[in-house]
Amino acid sequence: RKNLVVAIDGYSSCGKSTLAKALAKKLGFIYIDSGAMYRAVTLYFIRNHVNVNDPEAVDYALGHIELNFHSQDYQSHITLNGEEVSEEIRQMPVSTTVSEVSANKKVRREMVKQQQRMGKSKNIVMDGRDIGTTVFPDAPVKFFMTADPKIRAERRFKELQSKGDTTTSLEDVFENLAHRDYADTTRKESPLTRADDAIILDNTDLTEAEQLDFALDMVHQQL
Ligand code: C5P
Repeated sequence: RKNLVVAIDGYSSCGKSTLAKALAKKLGFIYIDSGAMYRAVTLYFIRNHVNVNDPEAVDYALGHIELNFHSQDYQSHITLNGEEVSEEIRQMPVSTTVSEVSANKKVRREMVKQQQRMGKSKNIVMDGRDIGTTVFPDAPVKFFMTADPKIRAERRFKELQSKGDTTTSLEDVFENLAHRDYADTTRKESPLTRADDAIILDNTDLTEAEQLDFALDMVHQQL
């Protein structure tokens, strides 16, 4: 039988990766965090002062970036040219720049190519913004996740605080989420949108266990 792909898309910080990891673990699939790839590329662009509006600079940079996942424990440990960057890509400098970098056509083309390669021969759960629409339009199971923006900001704020970030306020987080949602849904290249066949999952009032139960039910119905 052909390999299986579960696609999870949705707005920023609505728990896509939490659900994706739990689902992957239950199903014995590999979890792939596509957002981490855009974040790692963004980190490279920041460090190397790559001008995203200069097509030659973007081409050159993309030719010098190697991303790899180490998915022990279904966490998304990603390396950028061999360096572990999983923590650094979650910090604000990357969060405030990533939507601009990810809107770039050349960047998207390269990431989509790599993502499709990863899902070619393995059973995977991949989360992101365009997985059900562009990367794996034929995925047999697709979810589109959403949640109240204030709840999302509070969740992400707590996460940053627990990691020792004392400079970012709840308002900063709220604004960053609003900005990314706007940029991600209005960009020209594969904007964030629900695939016609994606199951909507609003988790504003759902626990993680309830979401997992719901998603597992859906997966078992579809497969
Ligand atoms: O999923 P995460 O919030 O880490 O993604 C960070 C950013 O990467 C998003 O705001 C979006 O701009 C970009 N992204 C994307 N397509 C994906 C995954 C992420 O454009 N498939």
